[in-house]
Amino acid sequence: MASPGATGRHEQPPLNDAALREAQKAAAARASAELIEDGMRVGLGTGSTVAHLLPAIARRGLSGLRCVATSPATEQAALALGMTVEGLDEIGELDIAIDGADQVDPAGWLIKGGGGAHTREKIVAAHARSFVVIASAEKVVEELTAPVPLELVDFAVQSTLRALAPASLRDLPPSPDGGLIADYLGEIGDPSALAARLAGTPGLVEHGLFEPELVSMILIGTADGVERRAGGDPSAAAQV
Ligand code: 5RP
Repeated sequence: MASPGATGRHEQPPLNDAALREAQKAAAARASAELIEDGMRVGLGTGSTVAHLLPAIARRGLSGLRCVATSPATEQAALALGMTVEGLDEIGELDIAIDGADQVDPAGWLIKGGGGAHTREKIVAAHARSFVVIASAEKVVEELTAPVPLELVDFAVQSTLRALAPASLRDLPPSPDGGLIADYLGEIGDPSALAARLAGTPGLVEHGLFEPELVSMILIGTADGVERRAGGDPSAAAQV
């Protein structure tokens, strides 16, 4: 316990970096949970920021939510909180999807897939009217840098890695859909040119570059509160 300070009151010890990051993730997650309304169809991302989101949604006590999870871990955590989880094909289009990010650049490009779930995450984001990104402040970067997560088909994976060079397999089990998780490790330069190169490589299932047009809103937890940024989705202002 902290000892009393000069005021005689017990003062909170300063948060260390890790605790500060968690507090920022939690603040962004809580702000995003406020965007959800009764009866919405909600896409749930994957990762430690989303781990704050799930209880924040549950605490709101909303009725009639129908959720799609982007990973088995998220599905299990959501079910444990009493949330209804269905497949995207059962639900169809989503009202909102909320997910974390590894990096966010000034134009709104994202790198995702630190947890290897970027293929399902991109599908879910693409089928949501609003895609909201939640992140702690250190995820905001001036320029995206490698690694860019990749999911590859198992067949001829070494040949695919050569075509994507520099790239290497990550030490992770296959994705729930059987894909191998790898990373592109080279220069990024123009994200849109790299995204086109990666997407055009046979054997690639999906890459972790998310274009700004996919993103409706970015909520960044900072030392001063939650900063809201518009994404590049041209219809986002009317949606969120
Ligand atoms: C998982 C992801 C995550 O959203 C991303 O890696 C950020 O994770 P975290 O919230 O744990 O920092 O894309 O595939």
